[in-house]
Amino acid sequence: MEKVIIRLENVSKKYDKDYVIKNLSLDIYDGEFLTLLGPSGCGKTTVLRMISGLEAVTEGKIYLEGEDITDVSPIYRAVNTIFQNFALFPHMTVWDNINFGLKMKKVPVDIAQKRIKDAISLVKLDGYEKRYPSELSGGEQQRVAIARGIVMNHKVLLLDESLCSLDLKLKREMQVELKKLQKKLKMTFIYVTHDQDEALTMSDRIAIINNGTIEQLGSPREIYHHPKTLFTADFIGESNIFKAVVKKVSKDIAYVVTKEGLLLEVDNNEYQIDDKLTLIVRPENIQIVNKQSSNTYIGKIINYIYDGALAKMEVKFGDEKKALKVTLFDDKNYEDDSQVYFKIPKESITILGDNNE
Ligand SMILES: Nc1ncnc2c1ncn2[C@@H]1O[C@H](COP(=O)(O)OP(=O)(O)OP(=O)(O)O)[C@@H](O)[C@H]1O
Ligand SMILES: [Mg+2]
Repeated sequence: MEKVIIRLENVSKKYDKDYVIKNLSLDIYDGEFLTLLGPSGCGKTTVLRMISGLEAVTEGKIYLEGEDITDVSPIYRAVNTIFQNFALFPHMTVWDNINFGLKMKKVPVDIAQKRIKDAISLVKLDGYEKRYPSELSGGEQQRVAIARGIVMNHKVLLLDESLCSLDLKLKREMQVELKKLQKKLKMTFIYVTHDQDEALTMSDRIAIINNGTIEQLGSPREIYHHPKTLFTADFIGESNIFKAVVKKVSKDIAYVVTKEGLLLEVDNNEYQIDDKLTLIVRPENIQIVNKQSSNTYIGKIINYIYDGALAKMEVKFGDEKKALKVTLFDDKNYEDDSQVYFKIPKESITILGDNNE
């Protein structure tokens, strides 16, 4: 059994009259990289600030290694936060910035010096000790902020949109470095982002936050391939979403008709005739095929784009009001307006129940 390092138990947060976090419970395991992912304003930063103690909870409890820290002041909580803007002291050198927390905690100088040296070499800033933040690039400042976070030797590091101000290339590099560092240090990272690619590539688990509650919690693969709600399916990756009604059932197969008039076979899960379902199909699961078979329809390709690795297109079908998003990995060229058979394999359809209007 994995060890729980942080437990949020029915945590709520109210500003004025409005709840921004509603009854949120979450166990975070020792050494994991957990990401809070969700749209702007959903409450991610608020959750981090409650864990760090910068914000009081309105209701509920927070535990660190089994100990109730709900009312413990932030300076006595063994967690560090790396803020979005890095919050480096401009008048202090790299060394002094990293030393700041150690000095406050009155860590003996010889121990502090060794820890700072180790942290600097971990984030690959050897030789930069005497520089000031204004003499560093964005990525280097980022690494100072990380060094300052890890030098305290706390078990948990909270990171709020830490990479969002970096350019795309540096961001990708830092994602890989940060993930490597986390594994090496065996620290627990609680990472906040609204960038789904970042969440998918870096996390052991992702908590999708919507409107102050956890919409879904799982590994990147679970979240991507088995979204449990329409919100998750829509927020992570691209999806084709169909509203459908069950028309006929056999032992293993349910026959449904979508709003657009597609007749599809789906796995039967004790459905009844007239059940309303929401079907989700990822663009890369739709196939272009040579001949008609089950779940195969004719359509017309529009907006074909080839980017060297993938071919992305839309396929209009039926009364041509709706187009499917399709992504192919093969290298065959299609012209816009060509007619194709597209197949929606039964196994690749994720089905949500009735309540997903
Ligand atoms: N001090 C405050 N007083 C009143 N409302 C606040 C306060 N801080 C945050 N909020 C509100 O709480 C909600 C959640 O804010 P929060 O900063 O946690 O969102 P977020 O998910 O981090 O968003 P973003 O991705 O934009 O950073 C928002 O609606 C915000 O307006
Ligand atoms: Mg935020």
